[in-house]
Amino acid sequence: MKYILAPSLLSADFKCLAQQMKMTEENGAEYLHFDVMDGMFVPSISFGMPVLKSIQGATGQTMDVHLMVQEPIRYIEAFADAGADIITVHLEACSDVEKTLRKIRECGKKAGLSICPQTEAGELLPYLELTDMILVMSVQPGFGGQKFIPESIPKIQKVRRMISDSGRDIDLEVDGGIYQDNVEEVLKAGANVIVAGSAVFGGDPGQNTKAMMERLRKYE
Ligand code: DX5
Ligand code: ZN
Repeated sequence: MKYILAPSLLSADFKCLAQQMKMTEENGAEYLHFDVMDGMFVPSISFGMPVLKSIQGATGQTMDVHLMVQEPIRYIEAFADAGADIITVHLEACSDVEKTLRKIRECGKKAGLSICPQTEAGELLPYLELTDMILVMSVQPGFGGQKFIPESIPKIQKVRRMISDSGRDIDLEVDGGIYQDNVEEVLKAGANVIVAGSAVFGGDPGQNTKAMMERLRKYE
């Protein structure tokens, strides 16, 4: 299986964003995680399409867009046009999950489906065939720098089993509170795409990416 690091730009230093992105790319991070918050689905507001568009081409990394947005179907085309490669929506935020996932694929992008800590893994089952990636939130979505919720581990294991049983090629991403000292248990539980905000941008992004990548490579 391929293991991928997705540094979350929410914690990056926007004064020198392109340089920080580059440092993660040079040290092995294949994705960049772009957290969009609307002040409705989650309390905070982050950034949106214009910012995504402006960083397009700054690196060759895959743009992994996480929409923490109510009724995200309204913005799928706009994010696809602005440079998203993967678009992940929250199951809890969609009145029609199936239609939303189909729309992402119609735009030629990979479709991700996310669940909050309080949502049961089993709720994902009806949508597996429409999904390229599952995103298990290991904190309440809305802010960087929170503590990893330990109950996420059995949930990750369960989702990995569901994916294996389906026989489909679906990535399993985990997001929230992942650092060098707990990333290995997240990988062991079955995740193969790791989001890291504070753990990468809380210090030197190059050195931190490198240290996280060393841990991921042990599992290849
Ligand atoms: C939280 C976001 C995360 C956040 C992770 O709502 O979805 O992607 O940036 O940050 P850390 O790694 O600091 O928990
Ligand atoms: Zn995120």
